[in-house]
Amino acid sequence: MEVIIQPTDEAAAALVARVVSHDLRANPHLVLGLATGKTMERVYRQLVRFHKDRKLDFSLCRTFNLDEYVGLFPSDPNSYRHYMEQHLFRQVNIEPRNIHLPNGLATDLDEECRRYEALIQRFGGIDLQLLGIGRAGHIGFNEPLSALRSRTRVKALTPTTIQQNASFFGGEGNVPRRAITMGVGTIIEARRCVLLATGDSKADVIAQAVEGPITSMVTASALQLHPRCTVVVDEAAAGKLKERDYYRWIFDNEPEWEEYR
Ligand code: GLP
Repeated sequence: MEVIIQPTDEAAAALVARVVSHDLRANPHLVLGLATGKTMERVYRQLVRFHKDRKLDFSLCRTFNLDEYVGLFPSDPNSYRHYMEQHLFRQVNIEPRNIHLPNGLATDLDEECRRYEALIQRFGGIDLQLLGIGRAGHIGFNEPLSALRSRTRVKALTPTTIQQNASFFGGEGNVPRRAITMGVGTIIEARRCVLLATGDSKADVIAQAVEGPITSMVTASALQLHPRCTVVVDEAAAGKLKERDYYRWIFDNEPEWEEYR
């Protein structure tokens, strides 16, 4: 795991967007894993800018989203499909047939989860997986106690996650109780993972995920097992990390990061 600390949330998101841009230019057929949430909005804004100003080309890129709520129509403003259309898909030249999200309306949800896993395999696996982190330390919707080898499946959302999302749905009662999510095992098979966290509300979970033990109570901690995982944080989200100076030293001296400094 590598940790990159940036001065602001904007700078942290910009760095993540530059990683995506770099990998997409190197491999136009990139299989890109996508995440949702407030934190990611800045990354997508930057990618849209790269597309418009620097001709970043998404025409051959294939995408797989981490998760989707069960029971929401794609047109529902709270569905992750809608989020992605709004923040990225409609604003870049991505081909609709190259976009993949779990179908939370499938009549057989278990079959849908198997189909999604098989599709990821058929595309040769995910090259670059973007991740946010929930306040419970979860990646995707892999809530506490999710098996570290879990695959795409239906998960019940915890009360914390439901509370966290209540304002978007106009009250806790309206938040879906379940979602389809890639499993922790699915996520850590991606060839590269980049997790972005900003703001002091993420400082505790970032410290646990990066410097704490690997535990299914904080599913982001499973990323410690990943051979190529980068955690990008702003100063606020880095606030509870003990080894900040060490992470800064690595970022300043590692040749791979020269173009990002
Ligand atoms: C939800 C999503 C996660 C995301 C998290 C954080 O739980 N399923 O993928 O990482 O929210 O969202 P935010 O960036 O809004 O804090």
